[in-house]
Amino acid sequence: MVGNTTPQSPHAAIFGMQWGDEGKGKVVDLLTEQYDYIVRYNGGANAGHSVQIGDDRYALHLIPSGILHKDKTNIIGNGVVVDPVTLIDEIDTLVQRGVEVGDNLRISNRAHIVMPYHKLQDAMMEAAVSAARGEHKKIGTTGRGIGPAYADKMQRSTGVRMGDLLDPDRFADKMAHVVRLKNAMLGGIADVAGAEFEPYDADELTEAYIGHGKVLADHICDTQHLLSTGMAGGKKLLFEGANGSMLDIDHGTYPYVTSSNCGSVGIYAGAGVPGGTVGRTTGIMKAYTTRVGAGPFATELDDAIGQRIRDRGNEYGTTTGRPRRCGWLDLAVVRYTAAVNGITEIALMLFDVLAGFETLKVCVGYEVDGRPVAGFPENGVALEKVTPVYEELPGFDEEITECRDYDDLPANAKAYVDLVERVVGVPVSIVSVGPKRSQTMMRVAHEAVGV
Ligand code: GDP
Ligand code: IMO
Ligand code: MG
Repeated sequence: MVGNTTPQSPHAAIFGMQWGDEGKGKVVDLLTEQYDYIVRYNGGANAGHSVQIGDDRYALHLIPSGILHKDKTNIIGNGVVVDPVTLIDEIDTLVQRGVEVGDNLRISNRAHIVMPYHKLQDAMMEAAVSAARGEHKKIGTTGRGIGPAYADKMQRSTGVRMGDLLDPDRFADKMAHVVRLKNAMLGGIADVAGAEFEPYDADELTEAYIGHGKVLADHICDTQHLLSTGMAGGKKLLFEGANGSMLDIDHGTYPYVTSSNCGSVGIYAGAGVPGGTVGRTTGIMKAYTTRVGAGPFATELDDAIGQRIRDRGNEYGTTTGRPRRCGWLDLAVVRYTAAVNGITEIALMLFDVLAGFETLKVCVGYEVDGRPVAGFPENGVALEKVTPVYEELPGFDEEITECRDYDDLPANAKAYVDLVERVVGVPVSIVSVGPKRSQTMMRVAHEAVGV
């Protein structure tokens, strides 16, 4: 077992081991019953976590997936960048569908705000890169303003936080300064991008966002204190990672990444809990690989096999609707993200999608110029140079969506799971064969998970 986890701790974490959309929403929904606080600690509305309950599907972007369970406290930690407009919309949509959203949603007063100028900057930076260096150099962001909002957090003098919304005078004062700077900066970027730019009006923005603050005021609090006192009082925490470890700002395929620490390393800064808080740490992975946006992808299948995976897996983005790029399972990726994050177990998702292939190819390592690559390529450019080394396994013809017991899986499917465990060195404890709660097999004795 690898990593910095505390096995006896009652707190747990889940996060993605690939490039996002691994099925984190489904796993959080399955595990929530065992925990009291469900905590988002990174990312923003770039995330799209789908949960299916019976025939009802929910897409969550900022609110932890635990919101669909009664009597759980859902926390948006300080490490998340919050777009108040999207959040209010998400709350309204849930409430209209009969989901309770009140005291059970808490937002950190330290979480930074995504402002409209962040979203514009996100789009204009992509347009500027495209104009100057070509379309292929774009990051392919979700356009949700994530990078610019985190950049302002680090810049400090231009960062605005949820707590600022509760003090209108302070917020107005800050906005007057920030909007002047943003207008100057965005005007310059617009020149490079060849785009039109209409300067922002500080008073208008201030008024609108103080209004959003009023709507959200009852949810905004000191979530670090809430977590700290909760843990002291015996509450159990489940941390819900967003995006995926290969999109991690430090450890992913830079620069084709998002702007936060998506894995376990992000939990402590992004929620304000001490290192080693987490025990059970479940890495979520698809049985194959997908990626949205630009960047290298060693096992990508730009052919009929890739299209078959896309069709069977319904691989279209929850947030942007973009077709996801699809390819064979890359275990060099998962072995690396397992090491970075210190996972104690794996949830293998969307396994049903692989039924019906004659042969299944799995990448078990990389080579450059015929020599094996030690470690993981440092960035996107280095990853582009590798050749995947494949192991081929016979496929399984039988559909497995109705399997409920691990022993019911075809022998070739079990051999695939064995290969994952052997290459990654971590047990596969959850196998998922469909989006529904019931389409899940638990391989080790866990407490009741409601399936
Ligand atoms: P997340 O961002 O990691 O939460 O994942 P997404 O929700 O963006 O994408 C995963 C998609 O796969 C969702 O539409 C889920 O409903 C669906 N899903 C989850 N597990 C399974 C599975 O085992 N089989 C199939 N066919 N779909 C699944
Ligand atoms: P969930 O939580 C898939 C990708 C974008 C783009 C890159 C940077 O649903 O797994 P950003 O808007 O963050 O600056 O975009 O990161 N990306 C995701 N891809 N799932 C996600 O979230 C993602 N969040 C960001 O497609 O390539
Ligand atoms: Mg998603």
